[in-house]
Amino acid sequence: MNMVNLTINNVKVSVKEDTSILQAAKQYSMNIPTLCYYEDLNIKSDCRVCVVEIDGKKGLTSACSTPVREGMVVNTNSPRVLNARKTIVELILSNHDTNCTTCVKNMKCELQSLARNLGIDENRFPSVFEKCDIDDNNPAIVRNPNLCIKCGRCVDVCNNVQGTSVLAILGRGHETRVSAVFDEDLNDDFCTFCGQCASVCPVGAITEKDDTDLVWHALTDPKKHVIVQVAPAVRVSLGEEVNQAIGTIVTGKMVTAMKILGFDQVFDTDFTADLTIIEEGNELIQRVTNGGILPMMTSCCPGWISYAEQRYPDILDHISSCKSPQQMFGALAKSYYPQKAGLDPKDVFVVSVMPCTAKKYEAKREEMSVDENSPDIDVVLTTRELGKMIKQMGINFENLKETPFDSPFGITTGAAAIFGATGGVMEAAIRTVYEVVNKKPLESLDFKELRGLEGIKEAEVNLGGSMVKVAVAHTLSMAKVLCDQVREGTSPYAFIEIMTCPGGCIGGGGQPYGTTNKVRQERIDSTYRLDASMTLRKSHENPEVIALYKDFLKEPLGELSHHLLHTHYSDRKNK
Ligand code: SF4
Ligand code: SF4
Ligand code: SF4
Ligand code: FES
Repeated sequence: MNMVNLTINNVKVSVKEDTSILQAAKQYSMNIPTLCYYEDLNIKSDCRVCVVEIDGKKGLTSACSTPVREGMVVNTNSPRVLNARKTIVELILSNHDTNCTTCVKNMKCELQSLARNLGIDENRFPSVFEKCDIDDNNPAIVRNPNLCIKCGRCVDVCNNVQGTSVLAILGRGHETRVSAVFDEDLNDDFCTFCGQCASVCPVGAITEKDDTDLVWHALTDPKKHVIVQVAPAVRVSLGEEVNQAIGTIVTGKMVTAMKILGFDQVFDTDFTADLTIIEEGNELIQRVTNGGILPMMTSCCPGWISYAEQRYPDILDHISSCKSPQQMFGALAKSYYPQKAGLDPKDVFVVSVMPCTAKKYEAKREEMSVDENSPDIDVVLTTRELGKMIKQMGINFENLKETPFDSPFGITTGAAAIFGATGGVMEAAIRTVYEVVNKKPLESLDFKELRGLEGIKEAEVNLGGSMVKVAVAHTLSMAKVLCDQVREGTSPYAFIEIMTCPGGCIGGGGQPYGTTNKVRQERIDSTYRLDASMTLRKSHENPEVIALYKDFLKEPLGELSHHLLHTHYSDRKNK
């Protein structure tokens, strides 16, 4: 590719053609402020916060949407530029609820940092802010239009990445607003609660529902035995919440932090990820050998389950009946665990820490209760909420010692560790299904063709002498491609993994802010490093899972497994 030479702030720079002024400046360590721009999303060029001055050009130019040109002379910080930027931000603030100290995004808000960096201590414009209703009529997501700056990022991610088109820019002029279509609540629309909109919102206008107070309350209740499970993707991302480098593996320190917070037992969702592979793997073997419905599709991701129930109710019988690892844990935590620990199930309070906002919705589904009067999972926290609790407690995370997970849900395998990355569930399943069917060990455990950020990946596996095709998709727009094939009866696959979030759970809607493809890849790399470092790398070799079947469940797909670990789905097209 040709190089283009230009001058930015008196510095001679040389960048590839088609680079934007914003990126060119960044490559030379000069950051131009932005608001509507988000790496990996379409450029909207709406807010004009990134304006710069170009020699010979009358007006100011947005740096995010303007490509470099040979000989261009750019000034990113002239008095004229700074004044324009300040005016734009003041006008945004004049139509914004500026109670920053009580905002959930306080200290993490891009508008707040922008105002501070531009030295806006007072606003020259009068407030025209009018209070609107908050949409929090669902278990997972809060949409607060009073904080919305209409940057359009959420609309872009919902429409173009997820293909769900729940959010839209409605109205015109001063009545412009971002809302669910027809101004409905998210609960009444086809929202999957994936939280990708919350992930990219620069302000506090879309966030997860904060459930930290419920957990603090349970932790101080002497009658409650409070246990917590932590999902595979959290240990490679929580570090970002507590000033560690992206992708730092913080497993042992995270367990110690949760002990300090006051949890009675800290368990690993990786254990029920291994259990999922045993149940799901056996279900696949049964469908393949008995002429059952194929392709079978994974069921670990509640965003995907909602999407299928709302948009593809005709293919629900392709989805595995296995509950997700979160819910398998919940069912055991309210049955097997109290029995083993000599506790009354009513006293056991179960918390999950998940990378996911949709898991908050999943835990509230009525099918997810062993005892119909209480849910199996009492509260779901996101990675961000756990980070908040650690900060509230004043824990110096960096200096913590490492603690192992508690038993009986503490021994896990590399197969479970990779559940958090797109392709991980499929790779884990193949490791087990191959060895069970072919009755011989796999030569290589690494299915590299199923790894990475490509939208749809596929592989072939020899099962009992026949080559079987499998596929993996992440994001709902990619899921749609595979679902359409299943609906039309043209799918060439026997088994399909679908994860809602870009990159899988490591890119979940409850993960630390600032997730981009570069960040996703670093979290994925850590996930596979974890797998490679483990002694046990196949779910069927997990001794605690083997003991669970021996002592309690008896056999995969048996009566008790069906009661506790499996579920069903409903047509929600006309909800
Ligand atoms: S949670 Fe997901 S589906 Fe719902 S509005 Fe946000 S991006 Fe769209
Ligand atoms: S809700 Fe957030 S992401 Fe969506 S338009 Fe408003 S400010 Fe932007
Ligand atoms: S991909 Fe993971 S984080 Fe995203 S909705 Fe599914 S389970 Fe949740
Ligand atoms: S960041 Fe460039 S126009 Fe908004």
